[in-house]
Amino acid sequence: MASARVSGRVHVISSCVLVILMVGPGRADTLPSTQFVLKQSDVKILGLQPDEASGIAVSRKHKDVVYSFNDSGGKNRIYAINATSGRSLGVFTFGNFTPYDMEDIAVAPCTSGSADSCIYLADTGYQNYAPPPRNTIYRVKEPATLGDQNLAIHGELKFTWAEPNCDTMLVDPQGIVYVISSKVGGHGVMGKLPNSGWTSGDQRVKPERTVVTSAVASFTPPNPDWFNEGPTGADISSDGKEMLIRTYEQVLYWYVPDGDYLTAASNQTGRPVTSHPEPQGEGVAWTPDGKGYYTTSEGLHPYIYYFEREDRPIVG
Ligand SMILES: *[C@@H]1O[C@H](CO)[C@@H](O)[C@H](O)[C@H]1NC(C)=O
Ligand SMILES: *[C@@H]1O[C@H](CO)[C@@H](O)[C@H](O)[C@H]1NC(C)=O
Ligand SMILES: *[C@@H]1O[C@H](CO)[C@@H](O)[C@H](O)[C@H]1NC(C)=O
Repeated sequence: MASARVSGRVHVISSCVLVILMVGPGRADTLPSTQFVLKQSDVKILGLQPDEASGIAVSRKHKDVVYSFNDSGGKNRIYAINATSGRSLGVFTFGNFTPYDMEDIAVAPCTSGSADSCIYLADTGYQNYAPPPRNTIYRVKEPATLGDQNLAIHGELKFTWAEPNCDTMLVDPQGIVYVISSKVGGHGVMGKLPNSGWTSGDQRVKPERTVVTSAVASFTPPNPDWFNEGPTGADISSDGKEMLIRTYEQVLYWYVPDGDYLTAASNQTGRPVTSHPEPQGEGVAWTPDGKGYYTTSEGLHPYIYYFEREDRPIVG
């Protein structure tokens, strides 16, 4: 009994210390936890589906719904998929054209301050060295209902840079678009595209700033035909404070409270967070509440993995 009482008192004292620490000056420095655990590992994309799912994005209008598309050889199609069953919830066509080589997808506000969410698509890849990439970002409004439908093009942004291939696009809460090229040697160039590109018609804009990211480490392609070692997907959280950039091998995390994603991706090494091996992993996307992220891969019937944050803030 006596010893129990002593340990009880120790427990009370340590709780007080903990409370003081949490309300003390350290509080402003409380960082979000970067401990993520695999919560869903048994769901595959089923039925009518992309078999080269080169990216994934999470709906902001429909709970637990993700969007994907087909890589090279794909049509102007977005697949709406139930993230917890893998079943198709509709195929959206957009515009009336054949994309060249779509490489990434994101959901974000349509413009700065807009309450409406848009699906962004990056036609930025190239195949076998010719023709050159189309380097066009398309934006369509996220529909209020699911099911097969055509979505009007809401915006088009054409850009130009020296990079030969780009697998990765991010869109921040202001609707600003970032692209990351993929390069042999593993140093993707990240560019911030100017918003003026949305209104410049056929005139191509240059990124307003570029940096070399530290995102790709020591990846060795499984065969020499793979020119792509660069990042394969990325996403910015809906509050704009957290960024994920993935490669074939890992998912990297940056905390970016000031929204300067370029400086973060160039000056800091991303922290590897939990992922699951995938045959050709190219998709990563935050849930709108920032509680976790999905990953997916190219290939027939790929898994939709879900990783959830363990709520243990690290006080730094
Ligand atoms: C996806 O594209 C590949 C070619 O890259 C093609 O073989 C396949 O049929 C397409 N899948 C769908 C569902 O359109
Ligand atoms: C997604 O699938 C789950 C599990 O089968 C189901 O409970 C849920 O209603 C589905 N959501 C939609 C939007 O169809
Ligand atoms: C990023 O790193 C470069 C080179 O070390 C340095 O000159 C620059 O000031 C850094 N920028 C920030 C915002 O930390």
